[in-house]
Amino acid sequence: MRKNIVAGNWKMNTTVPEGVALAKEVNQQLANAKHNCDVVICVPFTHLTSVAAVIDQKVLGLGAENCSEYESGAYTGEVSADMVASTGAGYVILGHSERRQYFKENNEQLLAKCRLALKNNLTPIFCVGEVLEERENGTYNEVVKHQIEALFDLTAEDFAKIIVAYEPVWAIGTGKTATADQAQDMHANIRAVIAEKYGKEIADNTSILYGGSCKPTNAKELFSKPDVDGGLIGGAALKADSFMGIVEAFN
Ligand code: 13P
Repeated sequence: MRKNIVAGNWKMNTTVPEGVALAKEVNQQLANAKHNCDVVICVPFTHLTSVAAVIDQKVLGLGAENCSEYESGAYTGEVSADMVASTGAGYVILGHSERRQYFKENNEQLLAKCRLALKNNLTPIFCVGEVLEERENGTYNEVVKHQIEALFDLTAEDFAKIIVAYEPVWAIGTGKTATADQAQDMHANIRAVIAEKYGKEIADNTSILYGGSCKPTNAKELFSKPDVDGGLIGGAALKADSFMGIVEAFN
């Protein structure tokens, strides 16, 4: 059956020393406490090697926040999936709404990134989600379906390795969380879209995380929904105590 997962997305926050200290603290708190989900932190590229050196990845998984759509070569400033994997990281966030919005990443590029991540044994955390206008004009199910379909060129074997994160853009960093019922409805929609393409077994085994102003105070209600298998956490992942408060929602 699918896993429950709480993953942090640090975005463009913390210096290397600050990030190492935060990762150590999260790792330590996890090692000392019982928890009923997988826990992952996704950190800036610059932090990966140093963070990998101070955490136990059997306790706390490590991921990047992006990777290149290109394999290697003359792409100044890009970081390849192979490079990410060589730091010891096991995950990579792909298609975050901030990448789609500010860096204009499109479905074609995201499929290429996913293929390279999988080729390098990284687990993609693939983000989807509608903007406020699409929520308000009622097209949100179609919009998210289209984003998921971007990966439908993958084989079933490859798709089965993907973690999906539903992050309504209007709920990211705004303090405005989707209600647990809104999250459940969308997660069920996503699972149905996956089932239609890859069958019920793969759909039932896909972890679908919710992201967008998830906090210790609302995590339990969100995670209690049958199709919500955990969270992708931004702001609240930047303090060990609040991140752990969300992890503990599964206890
Ligand atoms: P916040 O938790 O800060 O709303 O961010 C969510 C997010 O974008 C995680 O990827």
